[in-house]
Amino acid sequence: MTRVALLISGGGSNMLRLVEAMQAEGFARPVLVASNDPEAAGLAKAAALGIPVAAVDHRSFGKDRAGFEAELLKPILAAQPDVLCLAGFMRVLTPDFVRRFEGRMLNIHPSLLPKYPGLHTHQRALDAGDTQAGCTVHQVTAELDAGPILGQARVPVLAGDTADTLAARVLGQEHRLYPAVLRRFVAGDRSLLQLG
Ligand code: GRF
Repeated sequence: MTRVALLISGGGSNMLRLVEAMQAEGFARPVLVASNDPEAAGLAKAAALGIPVAAVDHRSFGKDRAGFEAELLKPILAAQPDVLCLAGFMRVLTPDFVRRFEGRMLNIHPSLLPKYPGLHTHQRALDAGDTQAGCTVHQVTAELDAGPILGQARVPVLAGDTADTLAARVLGQEHRLYPAVLRRFVAGDRSLLQLG
């Protein structure tokens, strides 16, 4: 069965939906949840679901990205994942790290890429007067938020929306999109999934 490792930085709501889908449907096996923050709330949630967890505090490495990644790679390689899912993982990975998993590493980004790569996506959509927003699951490549798109989900931008209300609406779609894309990805389907 396909082995999936998941990387988080915070609450891990996307990780939870992915784990719950894998455990309920059996299309893959979550083998590790790892974080760059030992305090990430998602770690306790993963452990409660019986999944091995690991944390490497990126702050201990200062600007030494390679050193941080070398440490983070230890539990990841020990888990022998076939697929890596970034789920609310907020560290930029070096090309060396990406190269190890290119073609089998996914990320979810809270915008309709290629619009708004990077941070503060919802405020940028509001500032631009967009009438639609959403999220994207894509394959991770060395260029940030720019890999082949596997799925997108759209939401309306409503009058009076703030970045927080829009983020909440998008997050609800992230939780639908990511499990649907991972299920297809594991089955070898690379076609674009568009959710409403
Ligand atoms: C989500 O908006 C996700 O798109 C972004 O991080 C946010 C929090 O994700 N990458 P999670 O609740 O930790 O999964």
